Amino acid sequence: MGLDQHGRSIDYLRISITDRCNLRCLYCMPEEGVAWQPHDAMLSLEEIQHFVQLAAAEGFSRIRLTGGEPLVRLGVTDLVRNISNTPGIERVAMTTNGILLPDMAAALREAGLSRVNISLDTLDPEQFTYITRWGRIEDVFAGIDTALIVGFDPVKINAVVVRSLNQDLLAFAKLSLARPLHVRFIEYMPVGDVCGSDGLGWTAADTIPNEELIQLINDHARADGIGELKPIGGQEPEGWGPARYYTFEGAQGTVGFISAISRHFCAECNRLRMTAEGTLRPCLFSDLEFSIAAPLRAGDDVAVRRILREALDSKPDEHHNRVGTERLMSQIGG
Ligand code: GTP
Ligand code: 5AD
Ligand code: SF4
Repeated sequence: MGLDQHGRSIDYLRISITDRCNLRCLYCMPEEGVAWQPHDAMLSLEEIQHFVQLAAAEGFSRIRLTGGEPLVRLGVTDLVRNISNTPGIERVAMTTNGILLPDMAAALREAGLSRVNISLDTLDPEQFTYITRWGRIEDVFAGIDTALIVGFDPVKINAVVVRSLNQDLLAFAKLSLARPLHVRFIEYMPVGDVCGSDGLGWTAADTIPNEELIQLINDHARADGIGELKPIGGQEPEGWGPARYYTFEGAQGTVGFISAISRHFCAECNRLRMTAEGTLRPCLFSDLEFSIAAPLRAGDDVAVRRILREALDSKPDEHHNRVGTERLMSQIGG
C-alpha cells in the first residue's frame, strides 16, 4: 500500500490550504498578489478533511499543511483537529511564516498540530521588510518564541539562501546554540518566474550549493570560536523531508541543509502534493496535475481514490533537471 511505480513508499501528503498570504516574499509572490483562486474554487475544509480520510485509506499517515500562508485560512484550527483525529493519520505538521502564531499556536497545539516549520530568510529587520515587502521581523520572532513555549517539537526555521541577498548565515546558524531550534538552509529554487517578472533578475547563479554554504559557515564559525558543524548521525530532529542535519558541539538545536538543486533527493521522495483547489501534483517540478475536486464534491469516493492512485503511479523517478513550473511556489506550497 502506498508504493509508487519506483518502489518508493509515499505516505506524506502536503496540502496547500490557501494560495493567499499576509506577506509577499520576493521569490514567492508578486507584490500585487496573484489572481487568487475564488473562494468557491478552493476545496472547503470539509472536502479537504474527507480527502484526508480517503488518502489515509491509501496509506498516507503524515500530513503537512502549507499555503500560501495556512494560518490565514479561516477555520484552520478545526481543520487541524479533524485531520489529527482521522484514523490512520499519525502526525500533522505545518509550514508557516509564523506571523499569526502568537495568537494561534496554543489552540493549534491543543488541536493536535505536532510541529511547525517557520519561514524566515534573514535576521535583519530592514532586510526582512525588504524580502517580505512589508513584514515586521518582531512578529516572526514572537511566533518562534510562542512555538517553543506551547511545545511544538521540533521547531524548525526555513531560510532560503539567495546569493545576492548576502544574508548573515552565521547569525542564523547560531540560533541553534542556545535554544532547541533547527535552522535549515534551503537552496533557492528559481521556479515560477516570479523573480524574473519582478525585475529582480535572480537566476540560477543565486543558488548557493549547500556544500559551498557549509564551508562558508564553518569558516565564519571557526573565526567566531564556536568550532565546526559536525554531521549529526542518528539524532536528527523529526523530519519527513530531504534535509541533512549537522550540529555545533553543545548546541541545543541543529543546522540542516536542503539541497533541492545541487543534490537530487528524488530517490528518497515520499510525498504527494495537493493545491488548495484540489489538484494533485506528483512532483514539485512537474506541471502534470490530477484534479480530484469534481468527484470529491460529487461524493464519488471511488473516482477520487482512482485518481489518487493515478497520481501516485505518475510520480516520475526524478525531476530530470527540469526546475521550473507554471505555478508559483505560493500556489503549490513549497
Ligand atoms: P520536514 O518534514 O520537517 O523535513 O519538512 P519539509 O522539508 O518536508 O517541508 P518544508 O515545508 O519545511 O519545506 C522545506 C523546503 O524543502 C521548501 O523549500 C520546499 O520547497 C522544499 N521541499 C520539500 N519537499 C520537496 C521536494 O519534494 N522537492 C524539492 N525539490 N524540494 C522540496
Ligand atoms: N526556493 C526555495 N524555497 C522556497 N520556498 C518558497 N519559495 C522558494 C524557492 N523559490 C520555501 C519557503 C517556505 C517553504 C514552504 O518553501 O521559504 O519555507
Ligand atoms: Fe507568504 Fe511563504 Fe510565500 Fe513568503 S514564502 S510570500 S511567507 S507563502
